[in-house]
Amino acid sequence: MSAYLTEQPGVDPGAAGRLGEPWPATARRRDDGELEVGGVGVRELAAQHGTPAYVLDEADFRARARAYRTAFAEAFAAVGTETDVYYAGKALLTVAVARWAAEEGLGVDTASGGELAVALRAGVPVAEVGLHGNNKSAAEVATALEAGIGRIIVDSLAEVEMVADVAAARGVVAPVMVRVTTGVHAGGHEYISTAHEDQKFGLSVNPVDGGDAPAMRALLAVVERPSLRLLGIHSHIGSQILDPAGFEVAARAVLTLRAELAGRTGVLVEEVDLGGGYGIAYLPGEAALDPRAVAGDVARAVADVCRELGTPLPRVSIEPGRSIVGPAGITLYTVGTVKPVAVTAQDGSTFTRLYVSVDGGMSDNIRPALYGAQYHAEVVGRASDAAPVLARVVGKHCESGDIVVHEVRLPGDVRAGDLLAVAATGAYGRSMASNYNLLTRPPVVAATGGASRVLVRRETVDDLLALDADAQA
Ligand code: LLP
Repeated sequence: MSAYLTEQPGVDPGAAGRLGEPWPATARRRDDGELEVGGVGVRELAAQHGTPAYVLDEADFRARARAYRTAFAEAFAAVGTETDVYYAGKALLTVAVARWAAEEGLGVDTASGGELAVALRAGVPVAEVGLHGNNKSAAEVATALEAGIGRIIVDSLAEVEMVADVAAARGVVAPVMVRVTTGVHAGGHEYISTAHEDQKFGLSVNPVDGGDAPAMRALLAVVERPSLRLLGIHSHIGSQILDPAGFEVAARAVLTLRAELAGRTGVLVEEVDLGGGYGIAYLPGEAALDPRAVAGDVARAVADVCRELGTPLPRVSIEPGRSIVGPAGITLYTVGTVKPVAVTAQDGSTFTRLYVSVDGGMSDNIRPALYGAQYHAEVVGRASDAAPVLARVVGKHCESGDIVVHEVRLPGDVRAGDLLAVAATGAYGRSMASNYNLLTRPPVVAATGGASRVLVRRETVDDLLALDADAQA
């Protein structure tokens, strides 16, 4: 159990049967071996909502949101400035989830018109909503401005002009941050890294052709446009980051740019956003980033750099997504076909791998296929004394890469009808789900205080047919 989980408000770390990471904070095994989340047994969850289903531990989500808000508020208060935490809705956004975030004092970071619509429908205070994206449409920007959005994070020089024009046409002043890339690359997988120079996001702090760096050009362009108000500078360095050093390096680059801009224009931006990316545990025994430790390190780094540069401290914001919702969610499946397969190892020896098929797969969790992501699964509807065997959990799609858990030890008597749960699927599961093979996307169910409730209902085949123009009677 990590230090972080022991600190979770409202959760007794010593509660009998608690499982610890990577399971949600309230997950425990009952005396008969059944798993419960939020006080609701998985057999009841499956009977009520069917499988596959995403199940969210609401108390855990809220506790993690509070933990990030408190950790950053305290660490930065200690060096003399204030913070804001924006929940990154791309990890998972429903109206209820947006409300939980807002109720715990977080803003919401959106990355499309769709995410923005959910945050607005949830009633998140619009001043605490941000709009990201490397290719926003003018319509998305117009909607955001009409709603009175708190900040638009501009991602290119062309977008500075577009947002300025859309704002001017409406007679409003758009609050903007400029997203910069600092060259810091951090995180678990190449594709997840968003501050590389050779990628599509942001504007580099490094000059490309001897002139001003693209980031400086964008900042100067924002300062010049009367329909734009420059709030600050934004940097997001990657995702599933387990070494906080990258945040410190990026903070230095951003603060240096801020001081340069102040030197040239007299404009000292009030805010610096250091993005999201805080890593979580996916497997038993893995470490998660401790928000208090990161917040302390980053606050000290920000204070040191500002002292060196002789600039006042900025307000600092962050955008965690995965670390708030990832560990709070599990996916509940029902086991179907179980098939022992003889596998020849590289040294020529053979061993048996038990292929355990479940009623979902790469359509509800693309991360193993897309990133080679590792997950942990257990048989959760009952206890078993059977010796564990080497298993691979696979889905029901027409593709051999349709793997849910590459390698896990499951009880040798795992059989059709068993309930199987995969841990830490709360982030980037439902939000990246597809209808591959025309599977219907599972519901999102919240469990807390001994009761469960549907946040997003299961898709039906009728939903799919409703989109097909030639299927209409
Ligand atoms: N802020 C910005 C500007 C971002 O681009 C992201 C994630 C976040 C915040 C939140 O990052 P988090 O705290 O969740 O790591 N689909 C990938 C992750 C892509 C993350 C993209 N940006 C995955 O499943 O691992």
